[in-house]
Amino acid sequence: MKQDPLEESLTGFSEADLDRIRSETFVQQVEFHRDLASTNDLALEYALQEEHQLPLLVLAETQSAGRGRRTNRWWSASGALTFSLLLETENSQLPPARWPQVSMTAGLAVCEALEGLLADAEIHLKWPNDVFAQRRKVSGILVEAPRLQSGRLVLGIGINVNNTLAAAPDDILQLATAMCEVAGKRFSLVEVLVDVLDKLMERLNWIGSRDHELRDRWRRRCLLTDRRVQIDTVNGQSEGICRGIDDEGALVLQTENGPLRCLAGTVTLLD
Ligand code: BTN
Repeated sequence: MKQDPLEESLTGFSEADLDRIRSETFVQQVEFHRDLASTNDLALEYALQEEHQLPLLVLAETQSAGRGRRTNRWWSASGALTFSLLLETENSQLPPARWPQVSMTAGLAVCEALEGLLADAEIHLKWPNDVFAQRRKVSGILVEAPRLQSGRLVLGIGINVNNTLAAAPDDILQLATAMCEVAGKRFSLVEVLVDVLDKLMERLNWIGSRDHELRDRWRRRCLLTDRRVQIDTVNGQSEGICRGIDDEGALVLQTENGPLRCLAGTVTLLD
């Protein structure tokens, strides 16, 4: 049975939506799947093939094995946005030394796009690149470099848009939210996606030329600054007051033993 077009726009994509993405955004090729294990996995596979036009968007209506940072899973349900961008980094302003910046810049771009859509909500960034709405996680970002292709980068983004979290595992239920929950209304998925892609293009273009501005914007939205946090890193666990993000993108903590800089890790708020 054919679905009502309005309902379809809240949980999926029509041919017209895919055409719109191709014609209105910086994306050159769209690879759309109703159901996929992980858009990042497919984008990483495509990174090894020459025939694709980049930036390539891998878009899935539902993901069955979405991955998060480290060994985490990314849980999602119908009505969420799950996509990955395969970017060309060779001959661009994105050499490997700037890849940590790509991840934080992507977080900023999602944050700014959501600010435009959720006008009355508090939107924050939780280092390194989670986006929070009303102090709950609404979006996660996973940047990965293909192992055998040094000139490309995969930028995977999951956003809880119209999906209910009712069926989510308990740990996610405690911490997450969806745009529809925050706004009390549902959103056209293609509208949200186009806004996010536009902001991504704008902000990624700033890397290397307007880094100061990117950092300022990021810092203004930092959820952790001046809060008591715990960080888990490969070197163990530490606790302290977050003193912000330094120019290299490291999280700075004031601990009992003095200042601590962390370039990677998972942060938990303690207050
Ligand atoms: C995190 O918060 O740990 C990052 C989550 C990233 C999830 C997105 S959903 C689209 C893309 N495909 C994946 O398998 N993961 C990313």
